[in-house]
Amino acid sequence: MEQMSHYQCDVLIIGSGAAGLTLALQLADHAQVTVLSKGPLTEGSTYYAQGGIAAVFDENDSIESHVEDTLVAGAGLCDIEAVKFTTSHAKESLQWLIDIGVGFDRVDDGQFHLNQEGGHSHRRILHAADATGRAVQTTLVEQTKRHPNITILERVNAVDLITHKHVGGAQRCYGAYILNRVNQRVETIAARFVALCTGGASKVYQYTSNPDVASGDGIAMAWRAGCQVANMEFNQFHPTCLFHPNAQSFLLTEALRGEGAVLRRPDGSRFMPEFHPAAELAPRDVVARAIDYEMKRLGADCMYLDISHKPKAFIQEHFPNIYDKCLSLGIDISQEPMPVVPAAHYTCGGVKTDLHARTALNSLYAIGEVAYTGLHGANRMASNSLLECLVFARAAAIDIIEQLQQVQLRIDLPAWDESQVNDSDEEVIIQHNWHELRLFMWDYVGIVRTNKRLQRALRRIELLQQEIHEYYSHFKVSNNLLELRNLVQVAELIVRSAMARHESRGLHYNLDYPDLLAEAKPTVLTPAQQKSS
Ligand code: FAD
Ligand code: SIN
Repeated sequence: MEQMSHYQCDVLIIGSGAAGLTLALQLADHAQVTVLSKGPLTEGSTYYAQGGIAAVFDENDSIESHVEDTLVAGAGLCDIEAVKFTTSHAKESLQWLIDIGVGFDRVDDGQFHLNQEGGHSHRRILHAADATGRAVQTTLVEQTKRHPNITILERVNAVDLITHKHVGGAQRCYGAYILNRVNQRVETIAARFVALCTGGASKVYQYTSNPDVASGDGIAMAWRAGCQVANMEFNQFHPTCLFHPNAQSFLLTEALRGEGAVLRRPDGSRFMPEFHPAAELAPRDVVARAIDYEMKRLGADCMYLDISHKPKAFIQEHFPNIYDKCLSLGIDISQEPMPVVPAAHYTCGGVKTDLHARTALNSLYAIGEVAYTGLHGANRMASNSLLECLVFARAAAIDIIEQLQQVQLRIDLPAWDESQVNDSDEEVIIQHNWHELRLFMWDYVGIVRTNKRLQRALRRIELLQQEIHEYYSHFKVSNNLLELRNLVQVAELIVRSAMARHESRGLHYNLDYPDLLAEAKPTVLTPAQQKSS
């Protein structure tokens, strides 16, 4: 049944992290913008970012060097045009953040203090102590709330995109179905353009550094709408998350290692020099695998990260949040090492986009961690992610503004059909499936994979998909059900991509294919055939 949409705007932005809010602010002087946020406006990975944002600010550094380091970390799989595009637009994107009020740390002469992180051959990370994301997110939120052309809808889930398959007419995106969690109804938003800025999917794993909202919704919605996804097998595991029963998801920034922290076994001996010439500053995949290997070899619960050889005042100045957090848990990091384990951290693959952040579906953009631009290849280099959000949000804004007058708004969108559904009386099924999925993804599709483990994971995913489909068809949608449905979809994409790669490269390590193939190719999945190319 067609009806007037509940809401209308020029541009619907799904997600309120660095990607979504940068896009909103870049567009707001030209268009009516609506921003959706599944939780509070501040909640997303952006808020929790620690180390900083990479850009060439030091006169001894160069864009060529930033390009080269990104390509090396990406293990031969980066798209060179995406790398050049991102690194060459880095400084102006950071300058925009500085201009709107983000206070990056400076040294006495007024120059920026630049952090060092794994894979970077220069100090090039702008940061706000060890809580860069908080500084970026709160500034973006303040600016967004002030702009009269931006409407904010918080605690609202995008459920699915509305396309020509729903309304007929030209092949494009026309808006979205949204779950209004205040009245528990599914409503419609009509828009000339829609941007997916929904972040990554690391919540598909049992242990993750990510907040709860990282359930891959944008990737699953784009896939259902017919978009290609690429490189989903490359999940980045951050080597050093705090291992403590009361510190779920707390990251210990790579900048600690940049300032001299070393990794130790439980007996106090260092091990990274045995794995890579760059030791603790080797690319992230190498460090995470080394920790995983040592933990399994020794049967240890964790390894240790030690910065206690540095003066206490230095630690408190550079890492105030980490110092305070650890102290609140009884660990004085100026005196003793921190227990660490790897955890799922970043989704390198995503919805395939071009240098304007356009997907293959007209009027639909994907920006930030949800997208695959080709920048990260087989392994993202530290602090290139927030950069990608900024650079591609700015590129998308230019592209959208150019087309704004040419694209019609259609407000006659079909209503969500709830005639066949009831209230759920078995929430326990969702909870159970949720835990099961995240556990077997950790065990079978984690840091080290085998063909057998991938096959086992796929069989379980197919069973879960049947159950969830049945549940979805009979009961009213809820946040948990929507996230579970999306996570299972993303899990399938990860496993199918991992099965299609017959080599070990970057973050994807399969014991049955330990070697590197001569030709590096991205894994691209297409919805209709679900074939790799
Ligand atoms: P997010 O910031 O994750 O925002 C996603 C948004 O989408 C949220 O507002 C969420 O509510 C919304 N959303 C999701 N699904 C829906 C839906 N269905 N409906 C409505 N809204 C939805 N990168 C760096 O470059 N440097 C760092 O120092 C760094 N440190 C990190 C530290 C931690 C602990 C973590 C977790 C990540 C870190 N990263 C870092 C990675 C980086 O923070 C993220 O990749 C980046 O912030 C992603 O931004 P985003 O805008 O794409 O998504
Ligand atoms: C960190 O601070 O270690 C995270 C940096 C990143 O993920 O880019």
